[in-house]
Amino acid sequence: MSKAPVNVTVTGAAGQIGYALLFRIASGQLLGADTPVKLRLLEIPQAVKAAEGTAMELDDCAFPLLQGIDIFDDAGKAFEGANVGLLVGARPRGKGMERGDLLQANGGIFKPQGEAINAGAADDIRVLVVGNPANTNALIAQSHAPDVPAERFTAMTRLDHNRALTQLAKKLDVSINDIKKLTIWGNHSATQYPDLFNAEVDGANAAKAVGDQAWLENDFIPTVAKRGAAIIEARGASSAASAANAAIDHVYDWVNGTPEGDWTSAAIPSDGSYGVPEGLISSFPVVSKNGEWEIVQGLEIDEFSRARIDASVQELVEERDTVKQLGLV
Ligand code: NAD
Ligand code: LMR
Repeated sequence: MSKAPVNVTVTGAAGQIGYALLFRIASGQLLGADTPVKLRLLEIPQAVKAAEGTAMELDDCAFPLLQGIDIFDDAGKAFEGANVGLLVGARPRGKGMERGDLLQANGGIFKPQGEAINAGAADDIRVLVVGNPANTNALIAQSHAPDVPAERFTAMTRLDHNRALTQLAKKLDVSINDIKKLTIWGNHSATQYPDLFNAEVDGANAAKAVGDQAWLENDFIPTVAKRGAAIIEARGASSAASAANAAIDHVYDWVNGTPEGDWTSAAIPSDGSYGVPEGLISSFPVVSKNGEWEIVQGLEIDEFSRARIDASVQELVEERDTVKQLGLV
C-alpha cells in the first residue's frame, strides 16, 4: 500500500533558497524515496507570480513523488494541514549587516506564521526555521504556537556543521566520512562555536589529530563562523544551494533518525543542558530517535569551549531580550 502524502509548507518559496530546495523536496530527498509529498508554497503577493513559475518547472520535472503544489499569499492557508514547515522567507543579510540587524524586520514575519501553525498545522508538525536570525525567529514562531509542543520548533545550524566538516577534512586530508561527533554550539551567527574537542577522526580525538591550537582558534573557528559573510562577499548574495542542502539534511535526519555512532548539530529548545538557559533555541550535539531530537549528554566541556559556548548563548539571551522588548515573544 502506498504511503499518504506529507504536506510540506515552504515559505519564501520564490527566493533563491526556495529555488534550490523545492526540486530536492519533490524528488524525495527531504523525507525519503518512498514518501509522496504535497507542496504548499507561501510567498508575499508580489512574489506569487515567480512562485507560479517555479511550480511550472516542478510540474515539468514529472517527479513521481510530487502529488500537488498549492501557492498562497496567506500564512493561515499555507500552514493548513502542514506536517513539515520550512520557514525560509525572510530578508537576507546584505553586505556589512549583522544578523541581529534583521531582528526587527524579520520578527514581524514569524509571529503570524507561528499563529498560523498553531491554528491549522497537522498534529505532527515539525518546523525548521532557516530565515535569519534563525534561532530567534524560531523562538518568535514558537511563542505564538502554544498548542504545539515546543520541541517541534527548530532552527538550522546544519549548514555550519557541514562547513566545519569540510574545513576539518581539508586540514587533515581525510574524507568527510572519517569525521564523527562534531558539534556546532549556540547561535547561527558569528559567535557560534564549532567544537573539535569532542569530535573524532577515524576514532581519534579531532583536536588532538589537528594538534595546532593556533589553527583551531585563528583559522578554523572564524572560517566556519564567518562563512556566511564570506559567501555574501564572493557571490553578492547569501548562500543558497548549500543552505537548501543543509535544510534537507536536517529534516531527513529528524524524520528518519541519525546514524548509529554519530551525532549532528541542530538548534533546538534547551532543556537546561550544558548550562544553556531553558527555552532558548540553541545549537547542541543532537541525535534523532523515533522522530525526536535528543541532546547528547555527558560531554566534557573544557574551559576554552565553555567560554565560547557561553558567549554565543549570551548573544541568544540578548536577542531574546530584544524581541521581548519589541513585544514579539
Ligand atoms: P531571498 O531574498 O532570495 O528569498 C526570500 C523570499 O522570502 C523572497 O522570495 C521573499 O518574497 C519571501 N518572503 C519575504 N517575506 C515573506 C513572508 N512574510 N512570507 C513568505 N515569504 C516571504 O532570500 P534567500 O537567499 O532565499 O534567504 C532566505 C533566508 O534564509 C534569509 O533570511 C537568509 O539570511 C537565510 N539563510 C539562513 C541560513 C542558515 O544557515 N540558517 C543560510 C542561508 C540563508
Ligand atoms: C549563511 O550562514 O550563509 C546565512 O546565514 C547567510 C548569512 O547571513 O550569513
